[in-house]
Amino acid sequence: MRKKIIIGNWKMFKTNTEAVDFIKAVESKLSIDKNTIAGIAVPFVMLSDAKKASKNLVISAQNCFYENEGAYTGEISIPMLQNIGIDYVVIGHSERRDIFKETDEMINKKNIALLKANITPILCCGESLETYESGKTIEWVKKQIEAAFKGISENDAKKVVIAYEPIWAIGTGKVATPEIAQNVCKEIRNMVKNIYNESVSHEILIQYGGSVKPENINEILNQSDIDGALVGGASLQVDSYLGLIK
Ligand code: 13P
Repeated sequence: MRKKIIIGNWKMFKTNTEAVDFIKAVESKLSIDKNTIAGIAVPFVMLSDAKKASKNLVISAQNCFYENEGAYTGEISIPMLQNIGIDYVVIGHSERRDIFKETDEMINKKNIALLKANITPILCCGESLETYESGKTIEWVKKQIEAAFKGISENDAKKVVIAYEPIWAIGTGKVATPEIAQNVCKEIRNMVKNIYNESVSHEILIQYGGSVKPENINEILNQSDIDGALVGGASLQVDSYLGLIK
């Protein structure tokens, strides 16, 4: 049976102090069953303290660079993350792709470098409203998935967590219906099967993201090809976060 994985993506919100307070408050009330992975992806400056404060929550980075070191002002390397015990990193979020112009090629390099370092990539994919409305979602996501997995072995591919996040549903309050989300996640599993095989496609975890809230998370997680959620806005408040994990 595949585990459930629910990760809050804090984006560029909160301070270090707020992060530590949040983790303490959540952990004092949280009970996570052994088949669930729950965590938060926090800004770089909070990773170290968040990691120290957390006992059961997974602490994920929101990005990384693929070179180990060098003249890359402003970037954070994988060895830096490893040194503070980080074992999950979100890559290819649509905000990184759109605002910071990250390409499929860069995301593939990050995917390869993270897997080499034994860190779990949370690989985001998803289409714009325009692509969705023109009926080209699957074609678009297929291109992103194929590019991201280029050069990755079958054994490593299983360790990647894929997050399907339609851009039109991010922060808009417009959640994709569970049927739409399920259909695309099923197609993604099929893409993985075509690149690798049945066993990889069966094992790989696929999350949905985009306006997930405590009120709608159950119907999303009930879909057979959706193994979890990547949650923005609703992961920022303690009560709402707890409502997602319950
Ligand atoms: P919202 O849950 O705020 O729509 O954000 C989704 C997201 O981008 C998570 O990575």
